[in-house]
Amino acid sequence: MRIEPAAALVGHVGVPGDKSISHRAVLLGALGEGETRVRGFGRSGDTQATVEAVRALGVEVEDVAEDELVVHGVGLRGLRPGRVDCANAGTLMRLLVGIAAGQEGTFELTGDESLSARPMERVAEPLRRMGAEVETTDGHAPLRVTGSAALRGIDYRLPVASAQVKSAVLLAGLNADRPTTVVEPAPSRDHTELMLEAAGARLRRRPHAVTVEPAGALRLGEVLVPGDFSSAAPLLVAAAIIPGSDLTVHDVGLNPRRAALLDVLERMGARVSVFNRRRAGREPVGDVQVQAGELVATRVRAEEVPALVDELPLVALLASHARGETVVSGAAELRVKESDRIEAVTDALRATGAHVRSREDGWTVRGVPARLRGGRIDSRGDHRIAMLGAVAGLASREGVEIGGAEAVAVSFPGFYELVEAVAQRS
Ligand code: S3P
Repeated sequence: MRIEPAAALVGHVGVPGDKSISHRAVLLGALGEGETRVRGFGRSGDTQATVEAVRALGVEVEDVAEDELVVHGVGLRGLRPGRVDCANAGTLMRLLVGIAAGQEGTFELTGDESLSARPMERVAEPLRRMGAEVETTDGHAPLRVTGSAALRGIDYRLPVASAQVKSAVLLAGLNADRPTTVVEPAPSRDHTELMLEAAGARLRRRPHAVTVEPAGALRLGEVLVPGDFSSAAPLLVAAAIIPGSDLTVHDVGLNPRRAALLDVLERMGARVSVFNRRRAGREPVGDVQVQAGELVATRVRAEEVPALVDELPLVALLASHARGETVVSGAAELRVKESDRIEAVTDALRATGAHVRSREDGWTVRGVPARLRGGRIDSRGDHRIAMLGAVAGLASREGVEIGGAEAVAVSFPGFYELVEAVAQRS
């Protein structure tokens, strides 16, 4: 796939439903009582894996439309043991381990090559403390989980800020004998907490901790999924970089634990406006307009990282176009995403002419307020790196060739069509 330079990005668009919330709607719907209707479902490789996973465990899921599902819940302990292929989806695998911990029987979870290289002890360890048997393969998938009908509630301090691990422990906690508390080093996304509250579970929330009480039943009824902020982000960043751009993404999720990229864009000098602030269920939503501005360097530190973790590759690209030196630190988690995103980003941006150095936990970027040359970027099979390549191409002088461009289908199958719909070419 080749992405040619754009003169500007102009227009009004929408993006598919949020991936994190779509996974959770299907999983919690499966554990619920009766029907859960999911509207605005973001259908992609990852979320389809979640639909197939719950089907493999005895849950009926009706495909009402491309973006609408009805999940027929089997109750909190009603999943049928079996084998699940989690494909590329880390959220699916980690949340499902937490769910399986409270079911009777043995569940086998496998993933693709990338997912099988990602750390799984972080989720196995707290669940063992709760009483489940969790076998990893040298710390990785394939996993075997034998659940327990007598899980113990625990107090658990997360060693890394991870919404996936937090969610796994909370979901197991629904089936435990007493309240379960998770303490996190920095606030990570809270979609699980918001959806559990909507389903009638009892939670106590503090800024760095959450406690869930054992639950008798969950009832969701309907989930309205907002547009995925992480899918809007590449377009917003391209608009921030390319002079003359004026782009609005409508109906996008603005959960403050997800949308810190907007703060970074503003302090770097882009013009950001949010209109029509409202809620979809308990999730904040709005329309986001970005206009290009003269960009200046910034710093991103550990405390901010969870709220823009999937957007950090784009921050490195922004920094390449911003006057001064940007340092991103406290982001070592990027090394264990769908690829080692610290090295993938450094290689990709250098290949287009940027001045980027990897750190153990981020990057140092020396920016120049001008177009990068362009070149060839390899996605390493990682959807977010493929999207980074597309934005780099739009903002370049000569365009970018993306190797492994099809990886975008993991989260956003129509991504390139949407890019072409807003790219103005002189
Ligand atoms: C996710 C949490 C984040 C994020 C991932 C989705 C989620 O991972 O990077 O894309 O849906 O909970 P960690 O919680 O492991 O940091």
